[in-house]
Amino acid sequence: MRNFISVHDVTNIDAMVQKALAFKANPFAEKSLGANKRIGCLYLNPSMRTRLSTQIAAQNLGMECIIFNVGQEGWALEFEEEAIMSGKTVEHIKDAAPILGKYFDILAIRTFPNLIHKDEDYSEMYIKQFIKYAGIPVVSLESATLHPLQSLADVITITEVLNNAEIQNRKPKIVLSWAPHIKPLPQCVSNSFAQWITAWGKSDFVITHPEDYELSEEFTNGATITHNQDEALKDADFIYVKNWSTYNDYGKLYESDPKWMLTNKKLELTNNAKVMHCLPVRRNVELSDEVLDGTNSIITQEAGNRIWAAQAVLSEILKSNG
Ligand code: CP
Repeated sequence: MRNFISVHDVTNIDAMVQKALAFKANPFAEKSLGANKRIGCLYLNPSMRTRLSTQIAAQNLGMECIIFNVGQEGWALEFEEEAIMSGKTVEHIKDAAPILGKYFDILAIRTFPNLIHKDEDYSEMYIKQFIKYAGIPVVSLESATLHPLQSLADVITITEVLNNAEIQNRKPKIVLSWAPHIKPLPQCVSNSFAQWITAWGKSDFVITHPEDYELSEEFTNGATITHNQDEALKDADFIYVKNWSTYNDYGKLYESDPKWMLTNKKLELTNNAKVMHCLPVRRNVELSDEVLDGTNSIITQEAGNRIWAAQAVLSEILKSNG
């Protein structure tokens, strides 16, 4: 593995999941693999889970991890080729990234979409420019359109639950359900979850959302899509709850109808479904207290698995790149 930007960087999802679960059982199994190696984690946007879990994962492998909140503390970066830098940006990625390539062995980047220009966000220019100019492996800590470390942790969590479940002789039903919010959010987590679950190919995968909230077909091909949430929830084994803004009329939040919020009453439609969310979550807007605090929630387990997802990915990159 050279970079980790999407599911396409993984040749065998189940093998990655097993690798992550092996680290969960024995966190220091490769404690010297990253000795004398350094990862630089650049945050252009806020984070709690990604930042801490990636740092812990690197340390478990014996790597030094340096965090740079470039969005708050660094020079404003320019990413456009041939830009005339007479505006707010101070340093071009062409100048900054090769230096980072000298300082670090792996570079990890978090950068959100602007939710204004769809073509710009979906071109993934920021992360591609880092790959182009850094000259070292690049890991996405969430990009403009995807969140692959989150999705790997999600598949790890689903696998753990299935290993202890009584679902036999059928595929589990996994539902990605849109949820209300107070502001437009990126499509990254939902795109990425859809991309990984369809690539994994081991479930009956349904996406439910209000009209006009279609995600890009690039990521949802292979899923069943319905605007009827109750129909989607019927007999579900897992419900992944997430808000996202509109993709077609880009970056809008048209409505925030509370009837889309998951409640215990709606859970009665399911096969005692486990409830997932990437966090952070707005309580009693996206998800009700009763569901978050109830026994069906596996959200803390899911967030805990972020360490093992990151550790599996960093281990793969260290082994592939000497
Ligand atoms: N799920 C997730 O990426 O959380 P953070 O934004 O806190 O990193």
